[in-house]
Amino acid sequence: MKCLKRLRIFWFLAVFRRYLALATGQEQIIFINLKNYIVCMGNKTKAKKEVHQYIKEYILSEEATQIMNSSDTFNEEGFDIWSFKKLILLEYYLKPYLTILQSRGYTCYFIDLFSGCGANKVSGEKVTSIGSSILSLLRGIVPIKSKSINYHFKKWFFVDYNPTFCQSLRRRAMKTLEILNKKYGENLVIDENVKILEGDCNEKINEIILEIEKESNGHKIAVLAFIDPYTFTNINWKTWKTLLKLRYVDIIFTFPINTLKRGLSQCKEMEKYLPPSLIELVKVRDITKIEDEEFSKRYAAEIAGIVNRPINYSEKGISVKNSKNSELYRIWLFTYSDPAANLTSNLVKELDRIDPSSLKMMFEKAKGKQKSILDEYS
Ligand SMILES: C[S@@+](CC[C@H](N)C(=O)[O-])C[C@H]1O[C@@H](n2cnc3c(N)ncnc32)[C@H](O)[C@@H]1O
Repeated sequence: MKCLKRLRIFWFLAVFRRYLALATGQEQIIFINLKNYIVCMGNKTKAKKEVHQYIKEYILSEEATQIMNSSDTFNEEGFDIWSFKKLILLEYYLKPYLTILQSRGYTCYFIDLFSGCGANKVSGEKVTSIGSSILSLLRGIVPIKSKSINYHFKKWFFVDYNPTFCQSLRRRAMKTLEILNKKYGENLVIDENVKILEGDCNEKINEIILEIEKESNGHKIAVLAFIDPYTFTNINWKTWKTLLKLRYVDIIFTFPINTLKRGLSQCKEMEKYLPPSLIELVKVRDITKIEDEEFSKRYAAEIAGIVNRPINYSEKGISVKNSKNSELYRIWLFTYSDPAANLTSNLVKELDRIDPSSLKMMFEKAKGKQKSILDEYS
């Protein structure tokens, strides 16, 4: 009885604290504890790594700065403060992914179908950030001290159809490999371990799958694919089918939901880009009346449907909104690994909950310019 009462008081305090944090805008007290893969609240809990620390590393760390400075080309389209959500999810997932799969004897590959040039200008800011491809290299090596080895992807495949981006990514990847080889005593080589493919990913995907299949010969193969298009017409539906021919493909996908409604009414080749259930839906219903939620749920369900085996994903995903609170894209993580899914499920929920104004505060803090709570109210 006493115990139940205590539990109730504890629960009440926890809920009260959360509402207080949200109501007063002190979202900086919500942070992510990477070590335990849980999300904690409150100033007393020792955080291993907070959201602003992730961002700080992407924009200001010495490694990031050296890598970004190795080329003067930057992607200047569509990278905003909210884009950090996708980078944080990627970073967070890489360690459990490699640790779990490599300890189970899998050879792992990373595919970034829309790799960009490795660095992005943050919209409206004088700040640049490393991109998904560079992050996958930097965090795609996990030292296992007990075994004195490093777990890492055997190969990273990066695709972009912009030739200038590919040249620039090549320079940045070479700089990154130089840093990694020195730091981890590895001998990772450009064009061998890191392949940069210039062209349409809807074509290049065949080349990549062929190469991985050739190497699979007797090995257990696992792939992590990062899929981050500008618009829904950047990726053909057929490309998903080709990619998912491989048995174990985990996916981080940013679905550009805001491009759908605008784009679909003018799109003459819906069959090329949409999964079957969405094609049926838009045939019988007025596009403007279909909720974004329905579009995204169906798209995600159809990706999971292709694999025809149980795959974990949170139906809601991570919503990415702009400062006007309109949804730009939805991020999903699809994973075969139950332990990895469990480890990341809290992060997925928490990233989904972080609203644009909180993210803005975390970004300001990362830059070292965050106001104190007192400043906020003076
Ligand atoms: C949203 S950006 C990717 C940003 C990147 N993930 C990052 O974090 O830095 C999309 C990229 O995809 C490229 N792209 C768009 N359509 C493509 C296609 N069909 N094949 C290959 N690259 C494409 C663009 O040139 C652009 O660099």
